[in-house]
Amino acid sequence: MANRRDFLTTATLAAAGVALAPLAACSREQSQPASPATATASAPVAPAAFSGTLLTRAIPSTGEKIPVIGMGTSGSFEVEGDVDARASLREVLATFVAAGAKLIDTAPTYSSAEDVLGDLVAESKVRERLFLATKLSGVTGRNEGLAQFQDSLRRLKTDKVELLQVHNLRDTDTQIALARELKQQGKIRYTGLTHYREDGQAQLAQEMRKHKPDFIQINYSPVSRGIEQTILPMARDLGIAVMINRAFEDGRLISQVRDKPLPTWAKDVGADSWAQLILKFVLSPEAVTVVIPATSKPRHQLDNLKAGTGPMLDDKQRAALVAALG
Ligand SMILES: NC(=O)c1ccc[n+]([C@@H]2O[C@H](COP(=O)([O-])OP(=O)(O)OC[C@H]3O[C@@H](n4cnc5c(N)ncnc54)[C@H](OP(=O)(O)O)[C@@H]3O)[C@@H](O)[C@H]2O)c1
Repeated sequence: MANRRDFLTTATLAAAGVALAPLAACSREQSQPASPATATASAPVAPAAFSGTLLTRAIPSTGEKIPVIGMGTSGSFEVEGDVDARASLREVLATFVAAGAKLIDTAPTYSSAEDVLGDLVAESKVRERLFLATKLSGVTGRNEGLAQFQDSLRRLKTDKVELLQVHNLRDTDTQIALARELKQQGKIRYTGLTHYREDGQAQLAQEMRKHKPDFIQINYSPVSRGIEQTILPMARDLGIAVMINRAFEDGRLISQVRDKPLPTWAKDVGADSWAQLILKFVLSPEAVTVVIPATSKPRHQLDNLKAGTGPMLDDKQRAALVAALG
């Protein structure tokens, strides 16, 4: 899974104060671009380091501002002990933190993702810079939920998380009550509800009205626009933060357009990839707080972070993107 063409300059990471020793020790990439004397036609080309400032948006229930680009861990962090994959993810994380991004979403049911994330965060000593979101997932009853949460803390190597979400609206009444209890105890700061499909949105709307969580997490992309009808206006009215999953439809959207030239207007919004246009599309409605693309590759992480700078899309650009992806 590790991509040996991906690397960052040591200076970028050092500037952000990210622990470098483990990165240098474990990465199989060059830590500096090849000099002209040693460069060959096949030598990797260093991606430009992140520059600029990530846009932030406020969590309505507190006013706390978070950067609009977050990161998912489903698939990408499910690598168990794979040394090469972990080396690449270490750089994915370092790139993320160096840009000032914060929110990482995971779940106890994403096989080894919590363990891998917990290890890398602890090694890199970046816990204090992150906003960690995990879930009560697939559990029934308060005791099962509490045991799972305590295990998540152990796996993530932390004593609290910022956000605890009820995964896919399962046992919602009991699990959201548990999340509220943990919030009162200072073990979490925000509660949330998640789903990931258009056909889950009617139930999500009902549960939003009933429980008024701090966050919801739901799917949204240029080809899955269901939330524009009910969920987004409701979130705005109820003061609920909105986290977007599956912006790339699990990567399918980007594969579809990979070989097509970018529209000429992309430069007007500072975008130089399809991924950036898609992320800017989902961040265009003000009611969207943060998007969490998942990647295993440092160069894709840089690409995704860039979407959080400059203008988002206007209505005409949104329509043009939908047509291009159609
Ligand atoms: N019910 C729920 O609560 C729920 C459900 C689904 C997802 N989620 C959360 O949402 C996160 C995101 O959803 P997702 O993982 O399903 O899918 P996604 O973010 O839509 O797509 C991930 C895919 O996009 C590729 N990718 C990422 N950045 C790219 C770039 N710049 N250029 C080209 N390809 C790129 C990744 O491949 P590479 O590794 O090659 O970059 C990966 O295959 C999950 O990880 C999870 O945390 C939650």
